[in-house]
Amino acid sequence: MINAETPLTMLLCINWLKPFLALLFSTLLKQGQNCPTSCLCPDHHTVNCSGQGLTGVPDSIPLDVRRLLLSNNWIPWIPSDFLVLYTDLVYLDLRNNSLSQLEPGTLSTSSRLVFLDLGNNNLTEIPSGTFGESRSLIKLRLGDNPYLTMVSRDVFTGLTSLRELELERNGLTGLDVRVLELLPSLNMVRLEGNPWLCNCHFAKLFVWLTNNQHKLPTGLEGIDCTLPLDGRRVPLSLLSEDSFRPCHRILTLADYLIVIFSGICVSVAAIMASFFLASTVHCFQRLSKISKGDEGEGND
Ligand SMILES: *[C@@H]1O[C@H](CO)[C@@H](O)[C@H](O)[C@H]1NC(C)=O
Ligand SMILES: *[C@@H]1O[C@H](CO)[C@@H](O)[C@H](O)[C@H]1NC(C)=O
Ligand SMILES: *[C@@H]1O[C@H](CO)[C@@H](O)[C@H](O)[C@H]1NC(C)=O
Repeated sequence: MINAETPLTMLLCINWLKPFLALLFSTLLKQGQNCPTSCLCPDHHTVNCSGQGLTGVPDSIPLDVRRLLLSNNWIPWIPSDFLVLYTDLVYLDLRNNSLSQLEPGTLSTSSRLVFLDLGNNNLTEIPSGTFGESRSLIKLRLGDNPYLTMVSRDVFTGLTSLRELELERNGLTGLDVRVLELLPSLNMVRLEGNPWLCNCHFAKLFVWLTNNQHKLPTGLEGIDCTLPLDGRRVPLSLLSEDSFRPCHRILTLADYLIVIFSGICVSVAAIMASFFLASTVHCFQRLSKISKGDEGEGND
């Protein structure tokens, strides 16, 4: 009796559980398929491939990934269509890799990206157009790229939400102040540890830094620059706008052109004035001659 009934009950049970088991297996399989080998996928939206000795971006990353952690690897470049694929990406961590350059436009399609870490790489320049109009970007980390000496003037225009910009410990000797002026939401910028040169180009940046000290995590304290004359490094906190006063005396090409042009104008005006004066004098002389003649005629 018992022997006959048990398999029947089991069969019924299995039949009843089938859809659940199918669902469970398919999700397990899916997750297994979607998570790249040597990466962890702690939740449906996160792929963590941090510190796995990767020499390239894994190619089986799920298309709907939102958080992608690729830090502490040896990744030398990212394909230029990388972010065209991962349109849901909000958080991208590429810290401590071997990136030496970014192809223009690589990051320009990242309309949802909020956090981007490119710190501790080997970037040498950030060309204009790199970030396009990533209007969602709030935090951008570019620090610890010791060979980074060039940041294009208009590279961050369009980053209207950017609040935090890190450019510390790079190789910057100067920075066009408009790079910072054009960021409407900026409330934190890190610039310490760069080999700044306090020449006349630096004067405008110095004024901006002085007026925006609340945006610098350590104020002017942590930032110093090299004096052009004797190569001495001085903290910015020891300088004042007066330190850059000699720069006001240095004329730019535009100033020279203005001087030359106004010189020409003055000469032309002088020539015309003397011509006018000469004509007037001549005219008066003739007039007085004629009137003298008239007088003489009258006397006769
Ligand atoms: C990512 O994985 C590494 C180890 O592989 C771990 O140390 C780290 O905490 C993980 N990060 C997150 C945000 O889960
Ligand atoms: C950078 O990544 C390498 C390789 O994973 C690791 O050995 C090193 O400690 C990391 N450096 C930093 C500063 O995290
Ligand atoms: C970083 O870049 C410099 C100069 O471009 C180069 O000499 C160096 O080998 C690079 N280092 C790495 C780890 O790629």
